[in-house]
Amino acid sequence: MSDNPIDQLVHHYQRAIRGRDPLARSANLVTIDEAGLPRTRMITLRQVSEAGIDIYVNRESPKAQQLQENGRYELHIFWPQDFIQFRIRGGYCYRQDEAFRHGWAGKPVYSQIADVLHETVAPQSSVIPSHQVVAEGAAALRQQYGANGALSFPKSVWVLQLLPEMIEIWTGSDDDRLHRRELYELMDGMWQKTLLMP
Ligand SMILES: Cc1cc2nc3c(=O)[nH]c(=O)nc-3n(C[C@H](O)[C@H](O)[C@H](O)COP(=O)(O)O)c2cc1C
Repeated sequence: MSDNPIDQLVHHYQRAIRGRDPLARSANLVTIDEAGLPRTRMITLRQVSEAGIDIYVNRESPKAQQLQENGRYELHIFWPQDFIQFRIRGGYCYRQDEAFRHGWAGKPVYSQIADVLHETVAPQSSVIPSHQVVAEGAAALRQQYGANGALSFPKSVWVLQLLPEMIEIWTGSDDDRLHRRELYELMDGMWQKTLLMP
């Protein structure tokens, strides 16, 4: 296997998708809140490539605010079919380019509604009085969609692109339990590899 961890990440991501691994697009993103406590949530991997790891997020959400405040995160991926784990840290940037807006416009309407609700009903993760406000907000948007055939792009939705600088790859060995752990750190643009005791 290549000594470039991004190649390995892309390789296993593509294998997971092709092999219909139930966790192919799922990962856990950990951030640190203002009290220094870890916050963790599942996210969806929209694209994994040499350029980085794309996740769609609401830029006003707690996770985005936590990133803005201290820049710390760990992305944790596990693909059961390959019995492999990736732990990723690094930098990040945001994108909201034309391709993304275009892609958003092509999403199923229920999925668009879920995004727009954060602007018409209440910010993501804020306290709401009941689930009814969500249902009513969605009904109003469905009506609007019926009338216009389109919903306006919600400005708070962005592509969060993670830019790995540290990748630890744990490769499980079911037969003898002698798992392998490789730590890759980006130094002066070159990946340095060390082995860790499993
Ligand atoms: C399988 C799964 C995939 C999810 N994918 C995303 C996602 O891609 N982007 C996102 O913002 N939230 C996603 N969520 C919801 C988040 O886990 C979380 O509830 C939400 O983003 C609010 O997080 P925050 O309050 O920490 O910002 C997903 C949840 C699950 C269970």
